[in-house]
Amino acid sequence: MSDNSFFPVKPEIAKTAYVDEAAYARLYEQSINDPEAFWGEQGKRIDWIKPYSKVKDVSYTGDVHIKWFYDGTLNVSANCVDRHLATRGDQTAIIFEGDDPGVSKHITYKELHEQVCRLANVLKKNGVKKGDRVTIYLPMIPEAAYAMLACARVGAIHSIVFGGFSPDSLKDRIVDCDSHFVITSDEGLRGGRKVPLKANADKAVAAAPGVQHVLVVKHTGGNVAWTEGRDLWYHEEIASVSADCPPEEMSAEDPLFILYTSGSTGKPKGVLHTTGGYLVYASMTHQYVFDYKDGEVYWCTADVGWVTGHSYIVYGPLANGATTLMFEGVPTYPDISRFWQVVDKHKVNIFYTAPTAIRSLMREGEGPVKKTSRSSLRILGSVGEPINPEAWLWYYNVVGDGRCPIVDTWWQTETGGILITPLPGAIGQKPGSATKPFFGVKPVVVDNDGKELEGETEGNLCISDSWPGQMRTVFGDHERFVQTYFSTFAGYYFTGDGCRRDADGYYWITGRVDDVINVSGHRMGTAEVESALVAHPKVAEAAVVGYPHDLKGQGIYAYVTLNAGESPTEELRKELVAWVRKEIGPIASPDLIQWSPGLPKTRSGKIMRRILRKIAANEHDSLGDTSTLADPTVVTDLIENRMNNA
Ligand code: WT7
Repeated sequence: MSDNSFFPVKPEIAKTAYVDEAAYARLYEQSINDPEAFWGEQGKRIDWIKPYSKVKDVSYTGDVHIKWFYDGTLNVSANCVDRHLATRGDQTAIIFEGDDPGVSKHITYKELHEQVCRLANVLKKNGVKKGDRVTIYLPMIPEAAYAMLACARVGAIHSIVFGGFSPDSLKDRIVDCDSHFVITSDEGLRGGRKVPLKANADKAVAAAPGVQHVLVVKHTGGNVAWTEGRDLWYHEEIASVSADCPPEEMSAEDPLFILYTSGSTGKPKGVLHTTGGYLVYASMTHQYVFDYKDGEVYWCTADVGWVTGHSYIVYGPLANGATTLMFEGVPTYPDISRFWQVVDKHKVNIFYTAPTAIRSLMREGEGPVKKTSRSSLRILGSVGEPINPEAWLWYYNVVGDGRCPIVDTWWQTETGGILITPLPGAIGQKPGSATKPFFGVKPVVVDNDGKELEGETEGNLCISDSWPGQMRTVFGDHERFVQTYFSTFAGYYFTGDGCRRDADGYYWITGRVDDVINVSGHRMGTAEVESALVAHPKVAEAAVVGYPHDLKGQGIYAYVTLNAGESPTEELRKELVAWVRKEIGPIASPDLIQWSPGLPKTRSGKIMRRILRKIAANEHDSLGDTSTLADPTVVTDLIENRMNNA
């Protein structure tokens, strides 16, 4: 990573951008010096039913609590839909592009309003009330956005579970937040292949007795099993209710959604976001980071099952009255030009994707990109993991023809919105660096003792004060929230990431410093994969670490000790991979499994993961101190039989 390559702000972008270099400096300083005044003003960008007079009440120590705009009331669906009706009722709110390139559809704000109101009435009719949790397990179809907004309209809290998660993972999430209502579809469609969502939901719900209704969108028309009385067809239900549904008045701090994410220990935690601050932050970052202008077509390729889809497909863009594109498919179907064909078809101006997609397309060369025009593109974005400079340069030169700034946006499920990023008209880019903090965000780099490091440095990335989009708690477990984020380094929000700050004050995220791994931009806890592996009857012990992977960023490397009497075979290896897919979902599949008669442990029995990471990365020449191991010969065996000889 070289600090030398620098892409200054393009004058033609700066000229029309909301924020240029001088404005960034001025506004950033204001936002840090007087956050109350800054956010008090910015909060007005959305519509309030009862305006707030209190802006901020936050403590990162003692009784940890985070509140923004907390005496105001509003409704998120009214902000994302109703308030645009007068000015842009006939404008496209959502462009749906199907998995099949022959399928696409435009939904206007007026149509969106009707769909959301009807679905909100369906929820009410079936007993869903303010504060209830609704689990959404849908493909990338417009109904996913309708479902989110319908929940927001009636004040229900949605919990979206990514369609790639297994029935078991879905069940855990339904049970954890005690959802009584689930929304799914017959099947999903990805790259021409069907995903049995209803069948998965049936299995999950069989083990979640609290569920009273499953609302099913007919999407592919595939056959599904049906439980009379419990299951409801979406199209029948919405036809049976009125298209009029006044939005519920919500407090700024009422919950908007729960989204489960992996941590370094235990089961995934339910990250809780609330109403007012989240919407202010999502809409403001969407406008400024992507420099979104009225009438532009904006496309974020994420799935609504991840936070990126929440904040930057649905809530941010729709709050801003944008046209947002929802893509059901994959970058490689029917062929590897698909992304760029969609860009040309819908004249996409702003395109936001993940480094893993860029790397996999880069592998196929320039041809499939260059045969498309892409002349509509103005801004490119990256999210989910560090982007390696080589992929950055390919994205910039080949996809953007050197015309479009790249915003490398660093953030997390917990942060609700983007925290560190270039602003296209204000901050020059260095490939591989997320560059500078957004307004109101104060990153600090601390050493392992929590001491704040100054200037050019490297260490643990913390944020020293709150921003409105920050998560408020772990659903049902505030103590876990405090422990996870505020106890490692007292007085700071700890991100779990390592980072370097260079001489120009640019931030370079170096990846997780905890036991979370990042596979193709998706978060996975090593502890989760380990517990899936040891649940297999033939496995005695397992240790999982990440290792550098050319396409995925990180791959999953599992060290497995079998029960006495079991023999390691190729067949068993495949069986274990299939087992983990079944237990958690395809995204958790181990890439490499090494049979390990023993694991490196200290005399007190603690697994020395540092050593396992080094061996997995093929860096066994620099293992460091191994003198505290109970049995050093274990390491020799592990090195000899290592799986990654890259
Ligand atoms: C983790 C958060 C934010 C939405 C998608 C992922 C990594 C995310 C970047 C980036 C370097 C990044 C971090 C972070 N990450 N964006 N631009 N550069 N790393 O959300 O699943 O909550 O994962 O993703 O390690 O902690 P998430």
